[in-house]
Amino acid sequence: MTPSETACLLYFDDEAAPAVRLAQAAGLAAQAIERHRFPDGELKLRLPVDAAGRLPRHAVLLRSLHQPNEKLVELLLVARTARQLGVQHLTLVAPYLAYMRQDIAFHPGEAVSQQVVGGFLAGLFDAVITVDPHLHRIDRLGQAIPVPQAVVLSGAEPLADLIAEQRPNALLVGPDGESAQWIAQAAARHGFDHAVCTKVRHGDHEVAIELPTLNAQGRAVVLLDDMASTGRTLAMAARLLLQAGAASVDVAVTHALFAGDALQALHDAGVGAVWSTDCIPHPSNAVAMAGSLAAALQTVLSSS
Ligand code: R5P
Repeated sequence: MTPSETACLLYFDDEAAPAVRLAQAAGLAAQAIERHRFPDGELKLRLPVDAAGRLPRHAVLLRSLHQPNEKLVELLLVARTARQLGVQHLTLVAPYLAYMRQDIAFHPGEAVSQQVVGGFLAGLFDAVITVDPHLHRIDRLGQAIPVPQAVVLSGAEPLADLIAEQRPNALLVGPDGESAQWIAQAAARHGFDHAVCTKVRHGDHEVAIELPTLNAQGRAVVLLDDMASTGRTLAMAARLLLQAGAASVDVAVTHALFAGDALQALHDAGVGAVWSTDCIPHPSNAVAMAGSLAAALQTVLSSS
């Protein structure tokens, strides 16, 4: 049996393009969920059932979780309804997974969002596939989202391939300790010179960065990280690298959150090119993840 005979890919209209790419790569039928917003802001969803009013035994929901708050309600409505309509195995493909950074209570009384949201998702889905989730103090996604199948892909290697094409002699720099994992993957693939900065965050828009010992003089530097939100981390690192003599500083990230004036902050800091994967749709998207997501999806579906 082919995957399309037993599974469907559900999506919302604002993600039609990535859903069609993923469905084609995975050999699934993509079917849109209808969404109506009532005047008071509540949502009504309608899932794409067959003539008998049922869904297939396996279903996959594509929902990248940037701007996550309302989407969490969508996930709740879709998952609970899908079960009532006959779905026995439900996979969430969330190329960007939200709420992973708040992984401890930094101050008494703070919600540990990673645990709370992770537990919520585990209560709805049998499998979760994502890309470069921000796992800092834990090793495995299954610790944050305790589902039978928790699959992590990385954008670091495809971004490294792009960097190797665009800046063959790049000096690869990670802006903080957490980026060391992605720098190591990318450097191992193409043998880039590489280094990692240290960072202390003082607020949403305030970061202090210290460069490692490196000779940036005349180098084409590429900063690589899992995400850019306010862009302040990358902007500060770029300023320091240009002050240290770098010939250019470009930026590559898996997740192009780019909140508010983030892109402007990068340009003001002297950043040249900005490249990202298409985990979050953005004009900087330069690397497609559909092939890797489809391969992971096929593995999940064939083993469930
Ligand atoms: C955190 O360590 C992440 O890897 C990013 O470095 C961080 O989220 C970037 O945030 P911002 O763009 O707001 O500085």
